[in-house]
Parts: sequence; structure tokens; C-alpha cells
Amino acid sequence: MKEIIMTTMTASIAGFTFEDILLNAAGVYCQTTEELDQILTAPGAGSLVTKSATPAERAGNPGVRYADMPLGSINSMGLPNLSLDYYLDYAIAHQDEKPLFLSIAGLTKADNLQMLHEIQDSDFNGLVELNLSCPNVPGKPQTGYDFDTTRQILEETFAFFKKPLGVKLPPYFDIAHFDMIAAVLNDFPLAFVNTINSIGNGLMVDPETDTAMIAPKGGFGGLGGAIAKPTALANVRGLRQRLNAGIKVIGTGGVQNGRDVYDLVLCGADLVSVGTTLHQEGPEVFNRLKAELAEQMKLKGYDDVNQFRSALQTLN
Ligand code: SIN
Repeated sequence: MKEIIMTTMTASIAGFTFEDILLNAAGVYCQTTEELDQILTAPGAGSLVTKSATPAERAGNPGVRYADMPLGSINSMGLPNLSLDYYLDYAIAHQDEKPLFLSIAGLTKADNLQMLHEIQDSDFNGLVELNLSCPNVPGKPQTGYDFDTTRQILEETFAFFKKPLGVKLPPYFDIAHFDMIAAVLNDFPLAFVNTINSIGNGLMVDPETDTAMIAPKGGFGGLGGAIAKPTALANVRGLRQRLNAGIKVIGTGGVQNGRDVYDLVLCGADLVSVGTTLHQEGPEVFNRLKAELAEQMKLKGYDDVNQFRSALQTLN
């Protein structure tokens, strides 16, 4: 008779229990209610995050704005979304089915505060992701690289916002910057950070045509997929080492297989979100990744993700 090993892959953030640790990365399979329904019901997905919303519907950047490339993808979507009200209605309607993340990305501080007020006054009782890291809106730098402005937004937010809130961060590339962003974030009652957003403003050439692969911003766009994995691991690890224990970490970047999920957990991720590979493969990816993660865990003798979360060893 085949041995059945029960594998526990759960996490908790702000009192919410996630029965699986995988979800979509904001931007992928989460723009319409039809896409969101697919993630909500996908075997292996423990949650979902809605497309980062602005107060009003946005078309996003024009032209070819996503391309697969060797080792991943490049995109400059420019926050196409159907408005906060659209995603708030969806999240309220489905919040009793799974713990959900509602993501917002105002183009100004005033937009963010206005949306947070609306969420605070609404019946939504899930988790809110404040996206401080979209690299693709022309003329709008990523707020997460401006430590003073990040502090200012969080100060003004927590003066009135009482629901569980986290921030989506850009990748950091300098140890001093890990220290600086952690010093800001640790001063606030954040429920989580989501790290990393795409690696901003890469450029990729189509060798057939000698053109940039995407149209907006002269071809500059965010890199995701396999190419992002070492940067994602470093940011998950670097922030987990510095953030207060109460701030949970969602690891995003470079997940193609179960080992990639395992590595993000090993570096400190509570949940793991999937972007480029979900875009390429569809929502069936979650069950595959879950099975592959279970296989990795079995190889290492683990039956619970808590047994190896944050347990990365380093070489002497
Ligand atoms: C986009 O819509 O351009 C991507 C969103 C993001 O990177 O936060």
C-alpha cells in the first residue's frame, strides 16, 4: 500500500490562516473578475491579490507591453486596472471564501490616502497591499526607493487606517538600502511586506528585428521570471533578517518550480507569489508547484513548511 505523507503548507498573516502558501503576483490573472475567479478556485492557491488599483479605471500603457524573453519576461503595463471600486466589490463578495489581498497603487500620495480611506470605511475585512513599487508609469518614480516619502505615506496612513496593511516593495540592491528601508518599515504596524516587484527598467532586444521587445518608455520595463530569482531571494532574506517578527514576508520573483518556492521559504517567505510562470502556464501552475514543493520537502525529510522557513544556512 502506498504511504501517504501529509504535508502542511500553511501560513498566517495578521490572524488570517492560509491553507496553501501560493498565490498570484499582482498584475497576473487578476485584472477581471473572470481571471480572479480562476485564481480563487485554483487547486493549490491559498489566496489571491487583485490587480493594483487606482481610484479610476486606467487603460495602462499603449502598444506591446509584455514579452517573454530568455530567462523570464519584460513588461511595462502601466497599471491597467478597472478601478478600486471594481476590486473592492469583488474582494468584499469573496472575502469569506479565502483570505484575500486588495492591492492599490495610487499615482500620488493623495490618491493612495483617498483609496485607503475608502477601504477603511468599507466592509472589506481582508488584507490590503499598498504598492509602492510600480516601475512602469512614465514620469512616476518608484516610491519605495524614496525612504523619506515612504515614511511620510505610512505616517499619514496609520493615522487613520486600522485594517491589516502591507507594502509591495521594489528590489533593493545595496545592503545599506536594506537597512534603510527596514528602519522605516519597523516603525509601523505593518502586517507584511511583499518583495520583490519586477526589477525595474530593464531593456531587451528582439534579435529578429533589432527593436526593443516592448513599446512603452522606449522599451524599458520590469524584469520578472527566472532572471529575478537571486534578487528575490536576497530581498526576502535581507528583509526577513531586519524586519520585526510581526511583519510577515511574501516572496515574489523567479518561481518556475517547487524548488524555487522552497528556496523563497528557506530565505524567510511566509507566502510565495507567482507572476511570469502563472502568465505562461495558467492557474494549473499552483497545483504543479505544490506537488513539486511537497517532493522537495520529502527529499529533505520535512512535512511542514514551518520546519525550514528562514532556515537558510550560510558558508563559513
Ligand atoms: C504594471 O501595471 O505596470 C505593473 C504593476 C507593478 O509593477 O506594480
